[in-house]
Amino acid sequence: MNALVINCSPVRTGATAEIARIVAEQLSGGYSVKSICIDDYAFAFCRGCRSCHDTAKCIMSDADVIRSIMDEFDAADIIVSVSPSYWADIPGQFKAFIDRCTPWCNTHDPHATIGTGKRGYAIALRTGPNMSECEKIIGSIEHFYGHLEIECRGHLGFTSIECRDDVEPIKKEIVDFCMNI
Ligand SMILES: Cc1cc2nc3c(=O)[nH]c(=O)nc-3n(C[C@H](O)[C@H](O)[C@H](O)COP(=O)(O)O)c2cc1C
Repeated sequence: MNALVINCSPVRTGATAEIARIVAEQLSGGYSVKSICIDDYAFAFCRGCRSCHDTAKCIMSDADVIRSIMDEFDAADIIVSVSPSYWADIPGQFKAFIDRCTPWCNTHDPHATIGTGKRGYAIALRTGPNMSECEKIIGSIEHFYGHLEIECRGHLGFTSIECRDDVEPIKKEIVDFCMNI
């Protein structure tokens, strides 16, 4: 079984990266784990041309970059997306990626597909104290999963997390969450 863990933050050394690292470590007992960071990839914004609504293909010159990420999705049985709040939403880099996944969106036919039976998990974190902001981020990730026909199986939200050092006190909660994956 394969797991894909995505650091949806462009920061490779922050709290999001640390949570993603703990998740990957925990899953490595039962899964072959691939970890990626959204900042590993450079791609342009979706232009909203809708060509893919008719062809299931993106006409942009860097379409192969998005396809390489979707190949990672295709290879995975489970996908865990870990996202911080940036201005009360997912980071722009991750949103830009989701927009570029429109060829795979099941609201139009034809559309590109990944394999069936995949399970998706979402983890959100933020510095502020209110959990509703995490719920919004989880909702964005689960919306994305839904249109890729990835079954949403669990989510977790953390408040009052600013930097890497803030993750140690919540490690047990992350480990417990991973035990149910
Ligand atoms: C550009 C930017 C915007 C942010 N906006 C928010 C926000 O709206 N609400 C919040 O609670 N935290 C916000 N944060 C804090 C991050 O959610 C927090 O530091 C998170 O724990 C770790 O993010 P990182 O792994 O990308 O460093 C923001 C951080 C950055 C860099």
